[in-house]
Amino acid sequence: METKHYDISIKSTTNIGELDAKEQELVRRAQNAAGRAYAPYSKFKVGACLLLDNGQMIEGNNQENASYPCGCCAERTALNYANATFPDAKVEAIAISAFNREQLVDEPITPCGICRQALLETEMKNRNSIKVIMNGKRQTIIAQSASDLLPLAFDDSQL
Ligand code: THU
Repeated sequence: METKHYDISIKSTTNIGELDAKEQELVRRAQNAAGRAYAPYSKFKVGACLLLDNGQMIEGNNQENASYPCGCCAERTALNYANATFPDAKVEAIAISAFNREQLVDEPITPCGICRQALLETEMKNRNSIKVIMNGKRQTIIAQSASDLLPLAFDDSQL
């Protein structure tokens, strides 16, 4: 039997100043959006901010529900709004940040599996990679494409 290896590159920095100006703004906006999250059950407030190729920045945050599975992550809140409002725009980047009980998390959080699948669908629809910027207090890590976060993904080519 043969073993295949999948190689992904993740950039990391402890200095947010190393990001370009737009990316820094995305991170700031993701942090602000987290402040408006509705997370009374987990107390884990997540914010996301998308950069579209038309220059728009779209913010989202997690929206929880007493019926827990009904809740929606920050990433998909932003992504669904962007796709609903600007269906022809390409998503170029997303920044994600989180506060645990009002404290910015030390280490960056990474999107859940469902959000990775949703990001991948947008990436494939637009034929355009989405840079994923994951922000924490100690460091910020960056994937060049959502597909890097979901190897062996299911997609429409398999339908
Ligand atoms: N959550 C997000 O919004 N994005 C993520 O990437 C991970 C988790 C939310 C879902 C739930 O409201 C809370 O964080 C705790 O899991």
